[in-house]
Amino acid sequence: MIVSNIQSPSQVTPEEVVVMCSIKEQYWPHSMESQLKWWERYTGKDDVLITLVNDGSILAFLRLRKGSILSNGECLVALCATEVCVSKEYRGQGRGKQLLGAATTYINRVGVNLGYLLCWSSQVEFYRACDWSQLIAIQIESTNTHKSRTLTADERCMVYDPHSRLNGQITLVGDQF
Ligand SMILES: CC(C)(COP(=O)(O)OP(=O)(O)OC[C@H]1O[C@@H](n2cnc3c(N)ncnc32)[C@H](O)[C@@H]1OP(=O)(O)O)[C@@H](O)C(=O)NCCC(=O)NCCS
Repeated sequence: MIVSNIQSPSQVTPEEVVVMCSIKEQYWPHSMESQLKWWERYTGKDDVLITLVNDGSILAFLRLRKGSILSNGECLVALCATEVCVSKEYRGQGRGKQLLGAATTYINRVGVNLGYLLCWSSQVEFYRACDWSQLIAIQIESTNTHKSRTLTADERCMVYDPHSRLNGQITLVGDQF
């Protein structure tokens, strides 16, 4: 049976990091060496790794990072999903939906009740099928530089907002999406 699992980075073994990086490498081919370096450099201790596991082997994962969204001037805590990926041999079997379902269950369970992510236009239908919705007019503000930008031509912002708290002018705050 394929089940979901939730771990902090400190609970993940080096072997599991290699498996997750190798799933990323299937879609974002930068070399395993650079995947592992990126992982070491950008993984924060508060990140949450959600995996799907079949008989002890990871076949899909995503990361949730703590972030914030300014909505009509109010700063809301939110969890940002990154690196959503399902190993190629398991695609098209409902595993992506199962993974996003595990993420939203977690987002609700910890009382954050707000998730967001950036993706490309070709992925919007997948996230819609997972009950995330698209936000149209948003700004993105870098935490480091405080510079603001709009979405690029092919970039899209999807949100999980079960209590419809987002309204008015929306700004995503952070550097890693
Ligand atoms: C995107 C991805 C996570 C989807 O995982 P998956 O296991 O193949 O998706 P599922 O089988 O769970 O599909 C769930 C639903 O989304 C739909 N869907 C999946 N991929 C889709 C796509 N590219 N375009 C349109 N619909 C799509 C499915 O038809 C299904 O719809 P249904 O519930 O109405 O039947 C997977 O293809 C993947 O890892 N892609 C590469 C990495 C990537 O692009 N990640 C997103 C980064 S932001």
